[in-house]
Amino acid sequence: MTTLATTETRGMPGESASAGHAPAAPAICWMNGRLMPAAEASVSVFDHGLLYGDGVFEGIRFYQRRAFRLEAHLERLAQSARALALSLPWDRAALTQAVAETLAAAPMASGYLRLVVTRGEGALGIDPRSCRQPNLFIIADRLDALVEARGRGARLIIAATRRLGADGLDPRIKSLNYLNPILARLEANRAGADEAVMLNAAGRVTEGSADNLFIVQDGRLLTPPASDGALAGITRAVVLELAAALGIAAREQPLTPYDLYTADECFLTGTAAELVPVADVDGRLLGRCPGPLFTRLDRAFRALIDRECGGPP
Ligand SMILES: Cc1ncc(COP(=O)(O)O)c(C=O)c1O
Repeated sequence: MTTLATTETRGMPGESASAGHAPAAPAICWMNGRLMPAAEASVSVFDHGLLYGDGVFEGIRFYQRRAFRLEAHLERLAQSARALALSLPWDRAALTQAVAETLAAAPMASGYLRLVVTRGEGALGIDPRSCRQPNLFIIADRLDALVEARGRGARLIIAATRRLGADGLDPRIKSLNYLNPILARLEANRAGADEAVMLNAAGRVTEGSADNLFIVQDGRLLTPPASDGALAGITRAVVLELAAALGIAAREQPLTPYDLYTADECFLTGTAAELVPVADVDGRLLGRCPGPLFTRLDRAFRALIDRECGGPP
């Protein structure tokens, strides 16, 4: 195993990459079998991941050098790659080993992994057949999304940009092409909001630009079905699992903007964001923020991390 000198001097959990008192330790990168400072890792300008967004990725949290729900992430990565006919030259054991080596060398005990597989270097044309060998790299760094919004509640807008459907680019594929959510996020930025909710072509709620969405209606927890056009989020699945364990009625249900505007509670879930309560949607204040169900689920989420990853960072 390759090792790099490490330090444990990163900011506290909940801080963004730029926040914190201690200077941020430089991120590291495992690149095709070699560990190096992330600033020195690079791919070719002919890599189709860069030229066309042709590739797949996962964002994975780690706590106490243990990856949270790694199996689920590697399974989703494999499915995304299959959907793109991108055959991975690394099996599950090799990917797990690569993650383990990255975690052992990471400059922080708790943080965020970005595991990326690109189609690899090829000719300038779009045809993936010119790419012989995918590139795999894993960055270990910090990434905390919606940090400010966690305390005061996120302000959401409903974006005019619609989520592309399975007839265009199936949102269940976690590909390197994020332009569709980026267009929605630009709308949120312009409106001074924290996040944009995207509707599908039929006007039903799908998800945020980089997170899934839940509401509470009459004591029940509701989230749009992934088939309405959302990524099958791993944090979303964990929240559904926790709701079942806590005896909270929860189910997938198609949602409209009206359901968001009139919800008793609303919150976002994602690897980078974890659980973030929502304060308002398009200027409509929600019933409670943070609401009682959010608070119970967030507490249970923290306890689960403690159980699975050996205590909070
Ligand atoms: C579009 C989108 N939706 C939802 C999520 C949340 O998924 P997960 O909980 O697996 O991080 C993400 C995470 O990156 C995302 O990019």
